[in-house]
Amino acid sequence: MSGLRLLIVDDEEAARYGMRRALESFGCEIAEAGSAESAHALMRDSTFDLLLLDVNLPGLSGLDFLTQIQNEAATSDVEPPLVVIITAHGSERMAVQAVKSGAYDYLAKPFEVDDLRLVVKNAFDKVQLRRENQSLRRRIQIETSQRGALLGNSEAMQRVRGMIEKVADTDATVLVRGESGTGKELVARELHERSSTRSSGAFVAVNCAALPTELIESELFGHEKGAFTGAAARRKGKFEQANGGTLFLDEIGDMSANVQAKLLRALEERRIERLGGDESIPVDVRIVSATHRELEEEIERQNFRADLFYRLRVVTIDIAPLRDRREDIPVLAAAFARDAAERHGLPQRPISRDTLKKLIEYGWPGNVRELRNAVERAAIMSEGAELNAIDIGTTSQKSVAVDESLNGGLIVPYTSDFRDDRREFERRYIARCLEEAGGNVTRAASVLGMHRQSLQHKLRELGLGRRYVAVGATPDKDEMPT
Ligand SMILES: Nc1ncnc2c1ncn2[C@@H]1O[C@H](COP(=O)(O)OP(=O)(O)OP(=O)(O)O)[C@@H](O)[C@H]1O
Ligand SMILES: [Mg+2]
Repeated sequence: MSGLRLLIVDDEEAARYGMRRALESFGCEIAEAGSAESAHALMRDSTFDLLLLDVNLPGLSGLDFLTQIQNEAATSDVEPPLVVIITAHGSERMAVQAVKSGAYDYLAKPFEVDDLRLVVKNAFDKVQLRRENQSLRRRIQIETSQRGALLGNSEAMQRVRGMIEKVADTDATVLVRGESGTGKELVARELHERSSTRSSGAFVAVNCAALPTELIESELFGHEKGAFTGAAARRKGKFEQANGGTLFLDEIGDMSANVQAKLLRALEERRIERLGGDESIPVDVRIVSATHRELEEEIERQNFRADLFYRLRVVTIDIAPLRDRREDIPVLAAAFARDAAERHGLPQRPISRDTLKKLIEYGWPGNVRELRNAVERAAIMSEGAELNAIDIGTTSQKSVAVDESLNGGLIVPYTSDFRDDRREFERRYIARCLEEAGGNVTRAASVLGMHRQSLQHKLRELGLGRRYVAVGATPDKDEMPT
């Protein structure tokens, strides 16, 4: 118990002396105060782990002092000491009230020395546990901030992290290359987060492939009111929004010649003009771009400007496909399993050995994104102590034919969208429960372990709505389960 600090607050000197003698063998440091006011003064100068606090004190009472300690702790980063309240004989109600307002425990006078020692020992155990948790939390915090969001210790990933470290603080344009789902956007975000000058600014992402040419220009550079039909008001573009921060241009291989020319000019002059405007606006942005295309080939085919290419790739970061760095799979899978459990409020479970073996052997055409989705599905679908309901390789084929009679029609055809599949599964599962409950929502809710209102909400959300809400009412055709 050394290293622990105890403060005895009692106005009777004899009582303080008795407690001190009883607790001396714990080897903790012991201080004494005769009133709440002097205890407060001592606590200003040093921190205590535990207070033995008498209720009957001259001046501020023990209970009021307890409240004061709690209030002060609420606005400070320092954890308050544990408080054991000492009440007079026969005032149990007051003791209960003290525990309700945050006391760790109580002792009623007169107490046996052994009772006192037991209560103090328990309190110290709790303090020690609290300290261990704190240092664990701090260690995790330090580790994640050093490692960043990019997981994986393969040589390829270490190289990526090394590059990020080296260029994050420069303004060099960076081109990130890699297959779909390898983490290009994540790398762009890391570059932003790790820049000491830009991380306080915005990270703005534009997907150049998702927008038609006319829109992408106004998206990037903004427009003045009336610049084109539908431009009802002046609008700032992404360049201006990212001012002082980072602009992430995704899928740049898909930009039209016109946009390429304008982009090149913006990069060269560090100024932009809004569509329909003639003001030249200075912008200070760092450009990170990404592509899954071979831009060199696009240049040869004259689909991409060579001069823009050289501007964009002062530094290139290549991310290897997941199949070429399989040693990253266990780390990634474990992190995604933890993450999925947390987000869906499920218990934390390890991935079974067989499953992990399958994960390592599979080719992952959708790379890390596909792995993440597969593990998330497994976290939801697995029963038992381990994640084992892994299903990979079927996701890219849309709507595989299924035998509806399997498992009572509960096996859902996999599409490439996890959310759709989950929704379909929920719909079938809940519909079946309701069928079995004879359409009685209250009974079905109790079978499902849900509140009736939550189930009704869920039914509406899943489009099973009116059919079951009022039993006996005519079901609405549109909302009938198929
Ligand atoms: N090294 C990694 N560590 C942790 N998570 C990763 C890693 N790489 C990718 N991810 C995760 O995988 C998913 C896909 O990553 P991201 O969106 O960055 O890929 P992308 O290369 O931009 O894909 P696309 O080409 O399809 O746009 C994200 O959820 C991302 O957080
Ligand atoms: Mg992306």
